[in-house]
Amino acid sequence: MSRISFFVTTCCLCLITAACTSGKKITTSKNSSSLKEAFKNDFGIGTALNAVQIEERDPRAALLILQQFNMATPENIMKAQVIHPQWAVYNFDMADKMVAYCQKNNIKVNAHTLIWHSQLPAFVRRIQSVDSFRTFFTDHIKTVASRYDGKVYSWDVVNEALNDDGTMRKSIFFQKLGGDFVTEAFRIAQSSAPNTQLYYNDYGNEQPAKRAGCIALIKKIQVAGVRIDGVGIQGHWHLGRIPLKEIEESILQYSALGIKVMFTELDIEVLPRSLQGADVNQRMIGDSSLNPYKNGLPDSVQQKLAADYEALFKLFLKYKGKIGRVAFWGVNDGQSWLNGWPVAGRTNYPLLFDRDFKPKPAFYKVLALKQ
Ligand code: XIL
Repeated sequence: MSRISFFVTTCCLCLITAACTSGKKITTSKNSSSLKEAFKNDFGIGTALNAVQIEERDPRAALLILQQFNMATPENIMKAQVIHPQWAVYNFDMADKMVAYCQKNNIKVNAHTLIWHSQLPAFVRRIQSVDSFRTFFTDHIKTVASRYDGKVYSWDVVNEALNDDGTMRKSIFFQKLGGDFVTEAFRIAQSSAPNTQLYYNDYGNEQPAKRAGCIALIKKIQVAGVRIDGVGIQGHWHLGRIPLKEIEESILQYSALGIKVMFTELDIEVLPRSLQGADVNQRMIGDSSLNPYKNGLPDSVQQKLAADYEALFKLFLKYKGKIGRVAFWGVNDGQSWLNGWPVAGRTNYPLLFDRDFKPKPAFYKVLALKQ
């Protein structure tokens, strides 16, 4: 048996076993157990990929990715910290590998992210003059966006430029370049990457105040005659508190601007959390009460998670014509960033596949919407 067919067989078995043990009616055809197949006429199904996955060093992940996803976002390797470590030094190794891996496997790359205040290389914070900062800003976008034009499907041109109240975040970009930096970033991206979709991405921008700020930002770009093709709502939500009404209103209001809506970093937090949003610079102090499920997720919570995902995907399907992509932030629970943020060392369960790469009840609920 070839290596590939061994993996395929193993994975089908793994899906079937999981279905059997959860007592669900199962079929064995490929389509019936694949998200990307099930939703192929609705929207893309994405995942975030880390370096191990891009280099295919984890066979179980490699198999699941090919079976389930037709879009992928680099979780970290295209962020400035990695791709542009020093003033005149770019490191494209991993990004090139990701592009090649995705091309080989017919996966569209949603590149992430050109301009973001987090995960910046140290030299950026040491730049003194506004002129030098502007040179960094322009060169970074030009160099990275042009290299991958026609090779990636889309860029998150700017990530998280807004505060929760809809005002501009006072980030290093805002402080050095003023409030027009978002429009400027899109202007440079447009000329450097004419064949790439250009998106604005944020968390919490489904909430009314931040949504209003986001709409104003998008309109500002459009009024300047600069191209913006879509808006990403990250979708880092919490169990039992999915803001369905606000998500629906956001899909309607954003698409009324003539742009596509993407759900770019979907995961559902099941652990206790005192802070909202997804600001990677915020942290909570850990204690054992914050890690209640280290030996497994109780069935009652598992069922709640399934119900939340079902309700979300029902809504996504209602507006499938307006949605370009629904992407999960990670392949399986064991690889989710939520095991390390906002508290280090927790055991979290935010995705559709468990630590053994087996589909969870939430997976079946989502898939059942198409059967
Ligand atoms: C996260 C990654 O998942 C982590 O590995 C990294 O340590 C911090 O960043 N919003 C974003 C993503 O736009 O880039 C963040 O990714 C999660 C929040």
